[in-house]
Amino acid sequence: MFDRSIKIAPSILAADFANFGAECRAIEAQGADWVHVDVMDGHFVPNLTFGPAMCAALRPHIKGVMDVHLMISPVDVYLEAYAKAGADIITAHVEAGPHIHRTLQAIRGFGKKAGVALNPGTPVEAVAELMDMVDLVCVMTVNPGFGGQSFLESQLAKIARLREMIGDRPVHIEIDGGITVATAPLVAKVGADVLVAGSAVFKGGSADWPEPYGTNIRLIRAAAEAALG
Ligand code: DX5
Ligand code: ZN
Repeated sequence: MFDRSIKIAPSILAADFANFGAECRAIEAQGADWVHVDVMDGHFVPNLTFGPAMCAALRPHIKGVMDVHLMISPVDVYLEAYAKAGADIITAHVEAGPHIHRTLQAIRGFGKKAGVALNPGTPVEAVAELMDMVDLVCVMTVNPGFGGQSFLESQLAKIARLREMIGDRPVHIEIDGGITVATAPLVAKVGADVLVAGSAVFKGGSADWPEPYGTNIRLIRAAAEAALG
C-alpha cells in the first residue's frame, strides 16, 4: 500500500552551513521524515550550494531518506555522482534540459527513486507523459534559489490538477517553498503529501538546542493533517 501520509522534509538550505552533519542528526532526531538537500549550480538558479562530495559527507549523518533536489542544468552529467553519493531520491527539473524522459530513465537506472520538479511558471501538463516514469513530482511554490520566500498561492490549482493526473499511481506530491503552519494545510487539502520546509523548521533552534526543530515539525505536520479531516 502506497504511503501517502504527510511527511515533513526539512531543507538544509536553512541549516547552519558550518554544522551540517549535526544539523541532519538533529532534525531526524526531532522527527523529520526526509532530509531535503537543495543542490544549486549558480546557472539554473542564481545561487550556489552543495556538490556531490558534500552529499557523500552528509550520507553517514542521515539515517532516513536523503531527498536530493537538483536545481542544476545540465543535469544528466551529474546524476551518477549524486547517486554514488548516496541520494535515495534524485529530483531533476523539467526545465533543466530537452530530455527529461531520458534523465528520469537514467536516475532509475542507478537504482534511485526519480523525481521531476516544476517551476512556478511551468504548467503541470509538462509532466503528463512522465506519470509512469517518476516516484515523485515536486511543485515549486517559490521561484527556486533561496529559502525564506513567500508561498505562491497560484500553485494550488496546479497541485490539485497534478493530484488528478497521478490518480492511484504510487507517486508522491512534494511541495517546495514557503511551507509554514499557515500554508501546509492549503497544500495538503489539494493532495500534497511531502512538505519541504526550510526556514519554518530551522527557526528558533540549533543543533545544540534542537527542541524548537521538533516543535516546528510537529506543528507543520499537525496543521497539514488537520486539513485532511
Ligand atoms: C528553494 C528551495 C527550497 C527552499 C525552501 O529553491 O528549493 O527547498 O529551501 O525554503 P523555505 O522553506 O524557507 O521556503
Ligand atoms: Zn528544494
